[in-house]
Amino acid sequence: MIPGSTPLAETAAKTSRRRHLLDFEGWSRDDVLALLDTTDVMAQVMQRTIKKVPALQGFTIGTLFFEDSTRTRLSFERAARAQSADVISFAAGGSSLSKGESLKDTLRTIDALQADLYVVRHQAAGAPHQIARWTDALVVNAGDGRRAHPTQALLDAYTFRARFEGFDGFAGKRLAIVGDVMHSRVARSNVALWTLLGAEVVLCGPRTLLPAELGQARGVTLTHRVDEALEGAHAVMALRLQHERMTRGLLPSLAEYRQRYQVTRKRMRAAHAGALVMHPGPINRDIELEGALADAPYSVIEAQVANGVPVRMAILYTLLVGSR
Ligand code: CP
Repeated sequence: MIPGSTPLAETAAKTSRRRHLLDFEGWSRDDVLALLDTTDVMAQVMQRTIKKVPALQGFTIGTLFFEDSTRTRLSFERAARAQSADVISFAAGGSSLSKGESLKDTLRTIDALQADLYVVRHQAAGAPHQIARWTDALVVNAGDGRRAHPTQALLDAYTFRARFEGFDGFAGKRLAIVGDVMHSRVARSNVALWTLLGAEVVLCGPRTLLPAELGQARGVTLTHRVDEALEGAHAVMALRLQHERMTRGLLPSLAEYRQRYQVTRKRMRAAHAGALVMHPGPINRDIELEGALADAPYSVIEAQVANGVPVRMAILYTLLVGSR
C-alpha cells in the first residue's frame, strides 16, 4: 500500500489513469475489478444510517442531460451528494438551447460555473468526447446515442457479481441480451465490459434489430431464437424497443414481436439454475419482459437501480481523487 494511503484511495488509484470515462477503450480487466472493489466500499457507506461522507467536499459535479433520464441522472446526483460534492444540474428541456444557443456555447456558459466533472448524456454519439475536448473538467459518459453507456454496464456487472449465488468470477459466465440490440448503447457497453471480464455474451433479436457486426467481437454470438439465447444463460437482460431512435418501421407487428421475443417465466426455464433477470430500465411491461417476471425473486432490476449509486460514487471518487 502507498504510505499514508487508505484502501479506498489505493483501489481508486489503480483505475485513475484515464482522465475521463467515455467508454471502456484502454480499460483492463484489473481496472474494472478495482472499480468494483471501490464500489463495495461505497455500498457500505450507503448502508449506514447517515449516508454521507466528506470524500468529495469542495468538488462540483455538473450533470448535463441533453436527453431524458430518470435513473442515471438521479443516481449520479445522489452519488455526488453522498460524498458531499456540490451539484449543478442542466437539462435540455427548459434551457436556452430552445433559443438557438449551440452546444459549445451552452458548455462555455456552464463551464463558467466552474464544475470539476461533467456527467453528460446526449442523443448524439460522440457528444461527451466533443465536450471533453472543449473543457478542462473531467467527463463521464452517461449515454451517447446508441454508442455507449459505460456506467450502466458497470452497475450491471456489479449487480451480477453481488447477486449471482456462488459467484466465482466472470469467466465461463453467459449473459444473454434480448431485444432491440440495434439501438442499444447498454448492449454495446455490456458486450465490451463482460467480454473484457472473460464472460460470453449472446445477443438476440429480430434480424432488423440485431446488427451483424456486433457478432464479430470475441466471446459474442448472435441468434434470432430466444430459446437458443437463454439456454444455459447465467443472466438474462431484456431491452425495450427504442421507438424514439427508429426512423422507419423495423417490426412487422408488436404482437408478433411479443410472441417471439418477450422474455417470460416459461422461457427462463432454459437458463442456468439461479439465473438472474436484468433490465436497464425503463421497462415496457409485457412487451420485452413478462410483467410478473420483473417482480420475480430472481429479478434484480431494482437492485440494478440501487447499485447505480455506489457504482457512480466509485466512478466520481476514482476520477476526481485520482485527478488530484
Ligand atoms: N438505464 C438508464 O439509463 O435509465 P435512464 O434513461 O432512466 O437514465
